[in-house]
Amino acid sequence: MSRSIPEPWRIKMVEPIRMTTKAQRKNALIEAGLNPFILKSEDVFIDLLTDSGTGAMSDRQWANMLLGDESYAGSKSYYLLSKTVEEIFDFQYTIPVHQGRGAEQILFPLLVELAKEKGVSEPIFLSNHHFDTTKAHVEMAGARAKNLICASSLQTEITNDWKGNFDLSKLSNEIKYNRKNIVAIIITITCNSVGGQPVSMDNIRSAARMARDSGIPVIIDAARFAENAYFIKQRDSNFSHETISKIVKKIFSEADIFTMSAKKDGMVNIGGLCCFRNNESLFRQVQLRCVPMEGFVTYGGLAGRDMAAMAIGLQEALDEDHLRSRIAQVEYLGHKLQQSGIPIQTPVGGHAVFVDARKIFPDIKPENFPAQVLCNALYLESGVRATEIGSLMMGRDPITGQQEPSLFELMRLTIPRRTYTDNHMNYVADSLIDVVKKADMLKPLEFEYEPKILRHFTARFREIER
Ligand code: F0G
Repeated sequence: MSRSIPEPWRIKMVEPIRMTTKAQRKNALIEAGLNPFILKSEDVFIDLLTDSGTGAMSDRQWANMLLGDESYAGSKSYYLLSKTVEEIFDFQYTIPVHQGRGAEQILFPLLVELAKEKGVSEPIFLSNHHFDTTKAHVEMAGARAKNLICASSLQTEITNDWKGNFDLSKLSNEIKYNRKNIVAIIITITCNSVGGQPVSMDNIRSAARMARDSGIPVIIDAARFAENAYFIKQRDSNFSHETISKIVKKIFSEADIFTMSAKKDGMVNIGGLCCFRNNESLFRQVQLRCVPMEGFVTYGGLAGRDMAAMAIGLQEALDEDHLRSRIAQVEYLGHKLQQSGIPIQTPVGGHAVFVDARKIFPDIKPENFPAQVLCNALYLESGVRATEIGSLMMGRDPITGQQEPSLFELMRLTIPRRTYTDNHMNYVADSLIDVVKKADMLKPLEFEYEPKILRHFTARFREIER
């Protein structure tokens, strides 16, 4: 029998979590307008809402925080971070930001402005898949966001190693017929929106080269860059003997710019990056936008200690033992669910298990939010909080006001790094299995209150009859 590989860490500090009663959870959910985003965290037992900023930092990160330099300008911690970025990614120019969307808000409007100066009339960004804040920032900058994800990613039951890939023929057509309007391509690694699925090295290279040959800037959305590199090592025989660090360098050698939410693979509770390989002029212009929006160019919305923790977190992210254990835990939960016949996106992604609610509730219409129904039922059953990735998150077309068709109706069980044990995963799996047995009794939802944008965060719902 093969031995299991334990986590490459031991626990030095614990944070108690509290189990609630079903009656308490029912009250909490009603108060939250049947929207788990509005729940108070103290009413949640196991929080799988997101892996963003919710992981555990290491002793080295905590120790380094005490060495953080809180100078307003020219902080040592900034220079440490910038040096770390250069060592890991080969990128010369670093702007720290408060989180991923901070990078998006200082970068995208400038790219659109520069494109318009060159005569672009209908600016568009192309991506394998834009994350929702990324799409929001593209649209707020007056551009359109188009997703060109490969077809296999949409069928959760089909197993394909690279479900995060671009459909390269679609990308090539866009470039051929719409070159003049394309502001940039954004390669999201791993591709969160379709299940934390990796993008292959070949696909990254081909997409980037197509763009570069046409003079289109290549941006990597790098939130889960190390997990993507780990999948490349596991699944591409050309890289099975490479270090994660080398694979990361290869990936980033294809890009001109990267934005990063460091709250994921950067392993910090807050922080992000906006970095440039060698375009000093663009870097300077983005720095100018950073000052009024994020903060002075050597802190960008962060304390010195946050940058110090990020510098260590980025190095720890490359540790193969960490990545193996992290991805094995996500897989462990996924396989347990699969063994009980629960439909999930396969193969299991890097940071989360995505449960296919469309298959569990074939009769609940997208506008009645099947995945949100499942999230609520799971919370009620167990105190586990998950999140909807489907029609609710997708929202309405800003021009027509019509519900945008969503590719999926998924419930995301997102696993924070170095935070929960496999016993927590057992509890999550057992609870969800019980919920799915009662699926016929669950009721669809409709809006009681629908915000205009990013509605999944604050919307309120009521149940309707099936
Ligand atoms: N890009 C990707 C791929 C993301 O997953 C996120 C955030 C962002 C950008 C924005 O970064 O939150 O630091 O501003 N994803 C979180 C999630 C919120 O739950 O998946 P941020």
